[in-house]
This record gives sequence, C-alpha cells and structure tokens, in this order.
Amino acid sequence: MTLPGEEQSSIAAAVPPVMFHQLAPAWVDGLGALLAALAAAGDDRLFHPHPRDSATLRRLADVATGPGEHDEYHVAVSSGAVLAYGLLRGWTEGYPVPSLGVAVHPAARGRGVARLMMDHLHAVARARGVRRVRLKVYRDNLRALALYRALGYRMEPLGGREWCGLLDLDSPVSGSAV
Ligand SMILES: CC(C)(COP(=O)(O)OP(=O)(O)OC[C@H]1O[C@@H](n2cnc3c(N)ncnc32)[C@H](O)[C@@H]1OP(=O)(O)O)[C@@H](O)C(=O)NCCC(=O)NCCS
Repeated sequence: MTLPGEEQSSIAAAVPPVMFHQLAPAWVDGLGALLAALAAAGDDRLFHPHPRDSATLRRLADVATGPGEHDEYHVAVSSGAVLAYGLLRGWTEGYPVPSLGVAVHPAARGRGVARLMMDHLHAVARARGVRRVRLKVYRDNLRALALYRALGYRMEPLGGREWCGLLDLDSPVSGSAV
C-alpha cells in the first residue's frame, strides 16, 4: 500500500518524461488518486468535471476505449503515476466545438506538465477535424488563466465569475507551447 506522503514524493520525482494515454481501466486507480489529491488541495473548487467515485471513473474508461464517437479522456503518466488529467467533451452531447479541461497533480506543478497536456489535447482535437476548442475558467484562477492566455486563448466574459476561452486551431502556431 502506498501512503499519501509516499505518493506525493514519488509524483514529485516523476516528471519528465511524460507519456499520454487514453483513460483505460489500467489508469482508473491512478486517476482516482490524482482527483483525491486535487480535492485535498482544495482544487476541486476550480476543477470539477464529474464525480470522482471509482464507478464513474470505470464507466468513463469504458466509454473512452469503446467504439463510436465519444468524448476524449486522457491521462499524463510518468513512472507509472498519473500526473495530469485532460478532457475534451461535448461531442457525445452533439456539440461541434469540444470543451477542454485540464488539471495537474499538486506535487507535479510548475514543470510544464499542463503545457504538455494542452499541446496533446490540441493535437487530439485537430486529429478529430476540429477547428476550435473552448473552455471555462474561474476569473480568480490566475495560474490557469496565464497558461491559457500564453497559448493564445481569447477570453470572453461568462457570467460574473468565469471566462469562456476560445482557441482557433487553424493557425499553425495557435495553441503551441513552444
Ligand atoms: C493550472 C494548472 C493546470 C497549471 O499546471 P502546471 O503543470 O503547474 O503548469 P505548467 O508548469 O505547464 O505551466 C504552464 C503555465 O501556467 C502558468 N503557471 C503555472 N504555474 C503558475 C503560477 N504558480 N503562477 C502563475 N502562473 C502559473 C504559467 O503561464 C506557466 O507558463 P510559464 O512556465 O512559461 O510561466 C495547475 O495549477 C492545476 O492543475 N490547477 C488546479 C486545477 C485547475 O485549476 N485546472 C484548470 C481549470 S479551468
């Protein structure tokens, strides 16, 4: 059994290099640990894409690896640990422009993992023929806002507390972290 402190230090030592995988049953426990760490850090206020119980995660892993058009659920992994989670959602509900979400384990931040995940998700969206990506971000989430603005997202007001970010993927330099 891995104790919370051991998990923190193994994740802190784990980056880079990072590999990206579609969420699959093999990553459900690691994703659960990442979401639990985000909740423990209070970051579930900023990032709450869906419930984090294992039945929900198993169902998403089945959807992500199943046949047909579906939303994209991806994990960034290093040394067997899930460092980050990234989503592109909306296709299942029939929306043409997917909504992006990203979160990085608190012990793995500030080392470019989010940028790598954003690059990966933009490449996944392009490969699916999408020309635009959107996201929602709380106005007080300054780390995420700095990341999205650096990648070229244009922010539009969304109610009183959020921005809606939009990125055109057509431009060859758009959305690139380099
Ligand atoms: C926002 C988040 C994804 C950034 O992850 P990260 O791996 O630390 O980000 P990176 O190391 O890839 O840094 C990318 C950029 O993010 C911004 N950033 C990262 N840490 C920052 C900090 N402490 N202060 C300000 N900006 C910061 C910078 O623009 C940085 O680019 P730079 O290194 O060239 O300055 C991470 O803090 C997180 O998971 N937060 C909780 C969940 C969340 O808010 N998700 C977004 C919901 S909309």
